[in-house]
Amino acid sequence: MRTISVRAHGKVNLHLGVGDAREDGYHELVTVFQSLSLSDVVTLEIDDEETVATGSIVSGLTATGLDAASVPQDATNLAWRGVDTLVDFYRARHGLGSLPRVRIRIEKGIPTAGGMAGGSADAAAALLAAHILVTETMPALDQTTLDALAAELGSDVPFTLRGGTMLGTGRGEQLTPMLSRGRYHWALVFSKQGLATPEVFGHLDQLRDQGREIGPSLDTTDLAHALMTGNAEEVAGHLANDLQAPAVSLRSDIARTLDLGKQAGALAGIVSGSGPTCAFLCRSELHARDVLDDLLSEGVYSGATATGPAHGAYLIDG
Ligand code: C5P
Repeated sequence: MRTISVRAHGKVNLHLGVGDAREDGYHELVTVFQSLSLSDVVTLEIDDEETVATGSIVSGLTATGLDAASVPQDATNLAWRGVDTLVDFYRARHGLGSLPRVRIRIEKGIPTAGGMAGGSADAAAALLAAHILVTETMPALDQTTLDALAAELGSDVPFTLRGGTMLGTGRGEQLTPMLSRGRYHWALVFSKQGLATPEVFGHLDQLRDQGREIGPSLDTTDLAHALMTGNAEEVAGHLANDLQAPAVSLRSDIARTLDLGKQAGALAGIVSGSGPTCAFLCRSELHARDVLDDLLSEGVYSGATATGPAHGAYLIDG
């Protein structure tokens, strides 16, 4: 059996400014994404003996690795939806004929429901893998069309497809590349239990309705300048996340972890996206390891070190 394997990376938001809720339920964002070395690999196991002309070409899905037990194994999984979205688009627009049946295998290195775009990375990887499969016989889609399909799958999926350092606006799906010098070193602390993104956005609205002044942090000018210096200490002074207050309010363990990171000497600590992962910016790889060791010795659940920026989704085999 032949396979196509695509790797996609997780992310941290160096800046996550959240504006008002829109009529469609999404919030206007001004965010700065940085992709991290943490990654998932999505493999399509292709059964050329069996072809499918209608309905999903996916016959099943398995996940291994970090938090694999909490990854859905049915058609609700974002990787499964990524394959279906690409195939449905080709069927509707390009009269695609039959395709081989595939099974999806996901190797997880990004925490699930951790605020690091693990599900989005899987969606981006699956979209690209399906594109590689379909373009064995059909013309390729341009980047704009692939980005639009990615945005249908989730607000962070276009970024995980592209990677690097990007400004995200709209609901996070409208991307502009940003200049960024150097490499950044992170100590990441994961949680045993994830947080649901809609719950955190909803809680931010509630806190604001109750009169709490949380942002909106919509100005990224200082961070943009800091990123051009390549100096981690300067970048550390400009990390911001409007979802941090609601995440901390929902989960008191996050406040403790952020305190511990400070005590361990990190340059700065921030909740990653909607949490509960906490990301600590450090001076060097060695510093990140020291900070992580310190945090682990204080009894945090688990963690890893990572560097950024990393790549978008790319073919690693097949
Ligand atoms: O786009 P995605 O499906 O990843 O979003 C998950 C949920 O997060 C949305 O249904 C919404 O509740 C919330 N969200 C939001 N504003 C955004 C992005 C996500 O309110 N810009």
